[in-house]
Amino acid sequence: MQTLESLFSRSARMMKGSEIRELLKLTQRQGIISFAGGLPNPDAFPMDNIHKMVDHVMDRHAREALQYGTTEGHNKLRLALVHGMQQNFDVTTGIHNMAVTTGSQEALYLLSKVLLDPGDTVLTAAPTYIGLMSTILAQQANIECIPLDDQGIRVDLLEDKLEWMARNKKLPKFVYLVPTFQNPSGVTIPRERRKEIYELMCRYDLLLVEDDPYGLLRFEGDTVLPIKARDTEDRVVYLGTFSKILAPGFRIAWTCGPAELLNKMTLAKQAVDLCSNTFGQYVVYEAIHHDLLFPHITEIKRLYKEKRDAMLAAMAEHFPEVAQWNTPEGGLFIWVRLPHSVNTRDMFPKAVANNVAYVVGQAFYPDGSGSNTMRLNFSHSSNEQIWDGIERLAKVIDQEMDKKLEPEYIHVY
Ligand SMILES: Cc1ncc(COP(=O)(O)O)c(C=O)c1O
Repeated sequence: MQTLESLFSRSARMMKGSEIRELLKLTQRQGIISFAGGLPNPDAFPMDNIHKMVDHVMDRHAREALQYGTTEGHNKLRLALVHGMQQNFDVTTGIHNMAVTTGSQEALYLLSKVLLDPGDTVLTAAPTYIGLMSTILAQQANIECIPLDDQGIRVDLLEDKLEWMARNKKLPKFVYLVPTFQNPSGVTIPRERRKEIYELMCRYDLLLVEDDPYGLLRFEGDTVLPIKARDTEDRVVYLGTFSKILAPGFRIAWTCGPAELLNKMTLAKQAVDLCSNTFGQYVVYEAIHHDLLFPHITEIKRLYKEKRDAMLAAMAEHFPEVAQWNTPEGGLFIWVRLPHSVNTRDMFPKAVANNVAYVVGQAFYPDGSGSNTMRLNFSHSSNEQIWDGIERLAKVIDQEMDKKLEPEYIHVY
C-alpha cells in the first residue's frame, strides 16, 4: 500500500495545523480560565424559546423540516432575511440575492472556491480572522494585508496598495473586511472611512466581502450601517450569521450579494453539503417569525456588556501601565498590545502554567508579525473568572517584562 501522504492532493498537502492551534489545545485543560475561544456564553442561549420553537416545528412542519431542503435555503427564512436586511441595515435586496450557508465559514469557503485560482490574491486588514486564511490557502491563493489602526483598515495604505497593484496588474480578486467589532481587534470602521473604502472598491472595480458576525451586538455608541447599505453597484457580498446572536450549534448563516455570484456558490455548495441543516433553518425561521430574536439579542448585549466592563475594570486594575488595549463598543473581543520586548507566544506556556489562556496575536497575522499582541474574549467566562484570570495574566505579563528588563550583563557569566 502506498503511503497516504503520497495519495494526498496538492492542496491537502498544503493543509497544516498551526502551532498556535496546537497551543490552544492546552487551554482545554481543567482549571484553566480561557479567554482564548471566540465562544458565545451558553447562559446566553435562549433554551426555553428554542425548546418551544423545536416543538412548534415538530408539531406543524415535521415532514418538510426533516427532509432535504433546497441548496439556496428555506424560502421563508430567505424572505425573512431579505426583510431583516432592510429593517436593520437599510439594505434593499431580493430573494435571489440571498442564500443560506452552513455558518459564515462555509460562505467564506464557497467564495474562495468560486473566485480564487492558485496564485490569486485576497487583500485584507492585519490582523484578520483566522478562518479566512484557511479558506484562501485551500485554494492555493495568497493573502496580502494592510495594517489597521483604531478605526480599522488604514485607507491611505489601502489606496497606495491598490494603486500599486493596479499598475502591476495584480489587483486582488476580492477585499475581505470585518468592519464592525472586528475579530480579533474589536475595532469598528467609522462611517466616513466606510465611505472611502467603498469609493476605492468602485474606483478599482473590486468585490468587497463584508463579514459581519458581530454587528448586531452593539452595547453602546451610535449604530454604523454596514458598507453593504451604500452598495449601489452590487459589489459588496454581505455575510451574516446566527452563531453569535442565537446559537452557533445551528450552523445557519446568510450571504447577501450579487445573484450571479450566489448561483455559482450554490453549485459549489451542492458538492459540499447539498443543503444546510433544514431542521435548524425551520427553527431559526420560527424564532424570527415569533419575534423572539431581537428581545434575545437585547439580553445578550446586556450580558456581554457586563462582561466587557468586568474585563476592562480588571485590566485597568491589574495590567501594567505599558500595556495598551481598546474599549470595543460591542462584539466579543479586546485586543491587547504589550511592549515589543514581550513575545506573547513565548509567554503563552507560562500563562497556561498559571491556569489562564489567551490567543497569541501572531495567529491573526498572515505574515507572522504581531508578536507583542494577544486577543482576549470576554463573552464566555463568568465575571469571577474574568477577575481571577486577568489578575493571573497580569502577573505573568509582569514577570515577563521584569525578565526583559534585566540588564544584559547579568546573563554574560
Ligand atoms: C469574523 C468571523 N467570520 C466568520 C466566522 C464564522 O462564523 P460561523 O459560526 O457563522 O461559521 C467567525 C466566527 O467566529 C468570525 O469571527
